[in-house]
Amino acid sequence: MKFDRPATANPIDRGRVVGIPHDRIDGPAKVTGSAPYAYERHDVAPNAAYGWMVGSAIAKGSIRSIDTRDAEAAAGVLAVITHKNAGPLGKGRMNTAHLLGGPRIEHYDQALAVVVAETLEQARDAARLVRIDYAREDGRFDLKAEKNKAVPPKSDPDTGAGDFATAFPKAAVRIDQTYTTPDHSHAMMEPHATTAAWTGGKLTVWTANQMIAWAVRELALTFRMKAEDIHVMSPYIGGGFGAKLFLRADAVLAALGAHAVGRPVKVALARPQIPNNTTHRPATIQRIRIGASKDGVIDAIGHEVWSGDLPGGGPEVAAQQTRLLYRGVNRMTAHRLATLDLPEGNAMRAPGEAVGLLALEVAMDELAEACGVDPVELRIRNDVQYDPEKGPERPFSSRKFVECLRQGADRFGWSRRKAVPGQVRDGRWLVGMGMASAFRNNLVQTSGARVSVDGQGRVVVETDMTDIGTGSYTVIAQTAAEMLGVPLSDVTVRLGDSHYPESAGSGGQWGANSATAGVYAACAALRGKLAQQAGFNAEDAVFEGRAIRSAGRTIPLKDAAGRRGTSAEDKIEFGDLTERYAQGTFGAHFCEVGVDMFTGETRVRRMGGAFAAGRILNPKSARNQVIGAMAMGVGAALMEELTVDTRFGYFVNHDMAEYHVPVHADIPEQDVLFIEELDDKSSPMKAKGVGELGICGAGAAVANAIYNACGVRIRDYPLTLDKII
Ligand code: MOS
Repeated sequence: MKFDRPATANPIDRGRVVGIPHDRIDGPAKVTGSAPYAYERHDVAPNAAYGWMVGSAIAKGSIRSIDTRDAEAAAGVLAVITHKNAGPLGKGRMNTAHLLGGPRIEHYDQALAVVVAETLEQARDAARLVRIDYAREDGRFDLKAEKNKAVPPKSDPDTGAGDFATAFPKAAVRIDQTYTTPDHSHAMMEPHATTAAWTGGKLTVWTANQMIAWAVRELALTFRMKAEDIHVMSPYIGGGFGAKLFLRADAVLAALGAHAVGRPVKVALARPQIPNNTTHRPATIQRIRIGASKDGVIDAIGHEVWSGDLPGGGPEVAAQQTRLLYRGVNRMTAHRLATLDLPEGNAMRAPGEAVGLLALEVAMDELAEACGVDPVELRIRNDVQYDPEKGPERPFSSRKFVECLRQGADRFGWSRRKAVPGQVRDGRWLVGMGMASAFRNNLVQTSGARVSVDGQGRVVVETDMTDIGTGSYTVIAQTAAEMLGVPLSDVTVRLGDSHYPESAGSGGQWGANSATAGVYAACAALRGKLAQQAGFNAEDAVFEGRAIRSAGRTIPLKDAAGRRGTSAEDKIEFGDLTERYAQGTFGAHFCEVGVDMFTGETRVRRMGGAFAAGRILNPKSARNQVIGAMAMGVGAALMEELTVDTRFGYFVNHDMAEYHVPVHADIPEQDVLFIEELDDKSSPMKAKGVGELGICGAGAAVANAIYNACGVRIRDYPLTLDKII
């Protein structure tokens, strides 16, 4: 199905199943421990041996010699695989560094060997006996030091409109500030993990991965195999946040190990291996200049971002939102990329906006203060209903940003905020309120599905879409139930298997909208078949109450499907509506904090937000996504930071004891309001993404609340007490 013109009325609009806050259909399997995760496939891969990764102890250089003899002789060891005996490996396209290093070493904790043994403990123990003699080379590890050597990345050209350089100095009110954000780690609950097995020349992997089809393609390139000889399964995933977008070392090592020992092998990264072996969100330096009239109307806005990555890597595109969020005739955005020999940078939840808004929305708070305009009112004054770089000929598909600001402010009690900092005290706490805009691009991706109705009328949906804790199982079941007129309990959803039709996968908050649109397409095809088999004209057949009705006749769905059942496969393919219309998701965050006047400790007291993201497919799972992302925004504001050792080139705090993320007790109250909105240009579902929107701006609302509480403006995240005091 081609989606190249705005959606008209369709069965989803009935809203009997879609749009209802259903519990997760996969919830019971998860809470009873019966949902099989990648490392637990004893059922399908019995007698698996255990692999343990040996990571590089240097950041850059090469292996002079590697001695595996003691490890091989250790109790229970079955094999030790390094670059010397792994056989010729290709390289996938999506990773910057090799997933098995050697003799060249590209980053600290790059995998250099896997030790396979009968038990996990034996493998871990023997891994310490692998002796590597390194030839260490100097590397570049400090973004600040490399900033001036940063270059424009090919992947993300500068943008602009009007004449920023001339207009900015002339503006009545000018903000010119620099903000920094540190490297972040995804810190998802389930570590990277894979069970791999070979049968003849065919490879099967059960792996925690957000993008099944990408994993197949990358494995094919790595092992120089045909894609059809590779079977990837990832039905349950304990969080991803972008850490599992790509094939990672655990999958390659498990496959190598399984090949060497002739039986299934499983590899999970230990928590301390994750931050340096896998990807992270790169640190940024951001300069923001805003020129406005005395009443806060923006005339010139500029956002420059510096980040670093390994040679061949990409930038953190933190200026993205500044292209679309506010008005202003004169504008510029620029990304600059430095070469760093730190571990590989890549996407983490809302790559770009998540840290871009940490800077932009504090700059807006500074502008509000400079103009003496309320921060909510300032944003309303700078709303724009079209792409401000391209002009009115490229309107937004839908943009209920002002509604988010107004309704969010009302619900939060924003009018009680004191404009001057340091006015409110509660015992030893200085109390303040802050707000920030939320924006995240709405991306869409081709997505396929197969849907069938069997002889009993049961519906089965199959797609390689993944559920990384987001609720994909549930919204997909809701879509099929709505389209085919059956209760949710009649639908079985099978996900995360490369034998199913290729889907959008889970990334960039495109998953729910794109994947359900793919299921919509397959259901539309199936409705056509079923109506025809029932002798109906497909156009006027109504699917309702487990039956098909047309021209006064009603036929049970199962009879229309026939004894052997009926199935259909299709995919949604998006045309140029994303070119013709700017597509984004919007919101407004509000936060109240207390800052301890003696210690500088910040405590979030409550948060609230209003969000507009098209049709909300399931308000319960959507809220879950938003509050989780808001918590992640609090992490970015107050505690998350991978500390770089700029001498040796690695992240020092590589475990959950030292890389802090918020827990429930850190955020006592979160309120989420969804603004009613249907976006007919985003997909036939009229939905948009919502999985990443909640992190965008949340941290800036915290930073602005801290300023309002105590009058301390910090522009270097995280805003820890040592900086506040
Ligand atoms: Mo997302 S950072 O594309 O999983």
